Amino acid sequence: MQMIFALIVVHILRGVLAQDELSLAFPDGFSIGAGTSAYQIEGAWNVSDKAENVWDYLLHKCPSLSNNNDTGDIACDSYHKYKEDVQIAKNMGLHHYRFSISWSRVLPTGTPDIISKDGIQYYKNLIDELLKNGIEPFVTLHHFDDLQLLVNKTGGWANESMVEYFAEYSRVMFRELGPKVKFWSTFNEVNIFCKWFAYLNETTPDTAYRASYLCAHNVLKAHARAYHIYDEEFRSIQHGQIGLIISSAYYIPKTAGDTESTDIAFDFNTAWVMNPVYSKKGGYPEVMKQRIAENSRAEGLVSSRLPEFSDKWINYIQGTADYLGLNHYITTLVEPVKKSNGRWYDDAGVIFSNDPSWKLTAIGWGVVPESMSALLRKISKDYNNPPVYILENGASEIADFMDIDRIAYLYSYMKEVLMAKRDGCDVRAYTVWSFLDNYEWFNGYAQTFGLIHVDFKDPNRKRTPKLSSHWLKIILSEGKLLPYKENLLEDYGNELEKTIEALD
Ligand code: BGC
Repeated sequence: MQMIFALIVVHILRGVLAQDELSLAFPDGFSIGAGTSAYQIEGAWNVSDKAENVWDYLLHKCPSLSNNNDTGDIACDSYHKYKEDVQIAKNMGLHHYRFSISWSRVLPTGTPDIISKDGIQYYKNLIDELLKNGIEPFVTLHHFDDLQLLVNKTGGWANESMVEYFAEYSRVMFRELGPKVKFWSTFNEVNIFCKWFAYLNETTPDTAYRASYLCAHNVLKAHARAYHIYDEEFRSIQHGQIGLIISSAYYIPKTAGDTESTDIAFDFNTAWVMNPVYSKKGGYPEVMKQRIAENSRAEGLVSSRLPEFSDKWINYIQGTADYLGLNHYITTLVEPVKKSNGRWYDDAGVIFSNDPSWKLTAIGWGVVPESMSALLRKISKDYNNPPVYILENGASEIADFMDIDRIAYLYSYMKEVLMAKRDGCDVRAYTVWSFLDNYEWFNGYAQTFGLIHVDFKDPNRKRTPKLSSHWLKIILSEGKLLPYKENLLEDYGNELEKTIEALD
C-alpha cells in the first residue's frame, strides 16, 4: 500500500517539478542552510542552572495562550539530541545551520556575574559538532526569548536599561563563542518581536503602540552597542560578520497604482527598523515621524509617541551591520483605511488582506514567489545593494512526510532568489525555515514548517526526514536548483522508499 503511495508521489513530483525546466546553478560561495531557534527546539527548560525565560513563565502561568496548551518545555529536545540533528544536517549537505542562543541558559541572572558553565558548554559542543561536520554555524543572540528576571526588573525593552544588559551579554558570547563563530546576528525580527511579542499585555492602542515603538528604539540601540563591541574588541581577532535580522512582507496595492499605501506599509513595518541601520541618512522614515506626530497631537498627547533619536544615537546606529539578515514569508494587499479610534492600524492608516486568488500555506500566508525577487530588488535599489542573507523563508504544511507543496514552495522561492541575484542583487545565502518541526509560538505544534518531521508524542522525539529534505539534499549535491531531472527520479524513489520503510 505504502509502496503504491510512494510511486504516486514520485509521479506527482515529476509533474510538479517538470512544470519549469529552468535550471539555475548556485553561485560560488552562495550558502544554503536551515534555521531553528532556542525556545522552539531546545526543550530542557530547567536543566542545570538555566533561568526562566519569558515563554517559560508565560506558558506555565497561562497555558491556554498556546494552542492545545503546548509549551516548549521539551520541544524537539535538541538540547539532548543536537548530535543527531547535526548528523541529519550533514546528511542533507547543508552549508550552514542557523540557531539562537538562549540568554537565560547562558547567563541565568541576565548579567555576566554568573556565567553558566553548562549553558556555555552546550553551545560550544553544538558549534564544534557543526564545524567537525563541515557546517557553518549562523548564530543569533536573541530570538524572542528574554529572561523573565530582567523583564521583572526593568519592565522589558521599553526600558532603556535593557540596552546595556544586552551589550554585556553579547560581549560574553563574543568572548566565549566568537573564536569559532564567523556569522553573528544580534536580534531576530526586531519589528515582529516589538510589535507582536514584547508587550502582549498592552491593550490600549496608545500604550501598545508606545511600547512597541520604545521597544524597537531600545533594541536598535542594543544592536548597535553589540555591533560596536564586536567591531572594537573582537573583529580584528575573530574576523566574523555581524548584522541584524528584519522580517519584511512584500506589499501590493489593492487598487492598481496606489503606491502611496504600499510605501506607507513598507515604511511602518520594515523601514521603521531598517532605515536607522541600513539607510544612508539613518533615523526613522519621515512618513512615520509625520503621521505619528499628527496622530499623537490629535489624541491630545503632549509629544509624539514615536521616540526620537538624538543625533549622537543616529550616527552611532547608522551603518552598524556587515549584512542585512532578511526573513520573508508574507505578501499582502494594502489599502488605505479611515481612522477608527484606537485600532492597531491607525498610525499607519492602511490595512492588509490576501488576494482570494492566492494559494495559501497552512498558516494562511499567500504563496506569491515573485514577491521574493521584487523585495530583493527593492532593497537593493533603496538601500544601495547591501549584502543580504536570507535567514528565513519556508512554508507550514500539514503533511507528515509527503510534503510536496513545500518542495514546490521552496523551489519557486529559491528560483526567485537566484533570479534576483542574477539581476545584480547581492544576496549571499538562503535559509529554509525550518530545519525541524518545532514549537511554533502560540500555534504550538499545530503548524509544521520543518524539513524534518518530529514525533512530539514520542518521548524520544523521533526525527524522520520529509520528502522535501531529500529534494534539498539532491539539489545541494548537484549544486543547482533542479525542478526535475530524469536521472534523479530514481534516487528520489529510493530515498522515498527508505523513508517509508523507516516508518514501518
Ligand atoms: C520567526 C520564527 C517563526 C516563523 C514562522 C518568524 O517570524 O522568526 O521563529 O517560527 O516566523 O512563523
